[in-house]
Amino acid sequence: MRAGSFLTAIKIAVLVVIVGMYTLSASVKQLSAQQAPEDPRIEPALRESRKMAGELTDKVRKLLLEELKKGGYVEALRVCSEVAQDITSQFNKRAGYNIRRISLGYRNLKDIPDEYERHKLELFDRLNDENKLATEYFEVVKERDVEYLRYLKPLKTAEMCTVCHGQIDEIPHRVMSILQEAYPDDRAIGYRLDDVRGAVSVKVALQPRPIH
Ligand code: HEC
Repeated sequence: MRAGSFLTAIKIAVLVVIVGMYTLSASVKQLSAQQAPEDPRIEPALRESRKMAGELTDKVRKLLLEELKKGGYVEALRVCSEVAQDITSQFNKRAGYNIRRISLGYRNLKDIPDEYERHKLELFDRLNDENKLATEYFEVVKERDVEYLRYLKPLKTAEMCTVCHGQIDEIPHRVMSILQEAYPDDRAIGYRLDDVRGAVSVKVALQPRPIH
C-alpha cells in the first residue's frame, strides 16, 4: 500500500469511529429518557397511559379498516374524526388524565401540538428518518411546580391511511371534496407510507412527592 492511500485509509477509519460514537451517544440519550425511574408514582400512570393510547389506536384502526373494506369513505371519515374524538373524550373524564391526538400537519385545529409536543414530533421525524423511532416515548416533566408524566405513542402512516392522508393523486375525489369542505385549512395530506403521521399524547398529573 502506498503511503498516500494508507493515510486515506486511516482517515476513513477515524471518521467511521467518530460517526459510530456519535450515533451511539444519540441512541443512549434516547434510551435514558425511556427508562422507568424508581419513582412509585410513575408505574401506574405509565400503565394507564399505555392502555389508553393502545386502545384508542387499535379501535380507530380496526373500525377504519372495516369501513374502508366496505368502500364506505364517508363512514371511514367519521371513524377518524368523530369516533376518535368520542373515545378520547371518554378517557378524558378521568381526573388527572389528558389524552389527545396531535400532528405537525394537523387537520383538526384541536390537534395542534403544544410546544413540548412539537419538539417531540420533530424528534420523531428525525429518528424515523434514521430508522430509530421507538414505539413509545415518555418522561416526567415539571410545569409550574406540578410534575407530569408525558407519554407519546407515534402513529406511522400505514397503507390504508393514505386514502385520506396520502399524496393528492392517492386520495379519491369523493374523499377530497368532503375533506376540503370540512377542513379548509387541511394540513394532513401529502404523507407517504411509514411517515410519522402524528402521535397519541397523554399527560398525567402526578401527585406531589411526599415530604419526608
Ligand atoms: C377515511 C379517511 C381517513 C383515513 C383512512 C384515516 N384518517 Fe386520520 N383523519 C381523518 C380525518 C377526517 C381527520 C380529522 C379528525 C378530526 O376532525 O378530529 C383525521 C385526523 C387524524 C389524526 C389527528 C391529527 C389531525 O391531523 O388532526 C391523526 C393522528 C390521524 N388522523 C392518523 C391517521 C392514521 C395513522 C391513519 C391510518 C391508520 C388514518 N388517520 C386514516 C381521516 C382519515
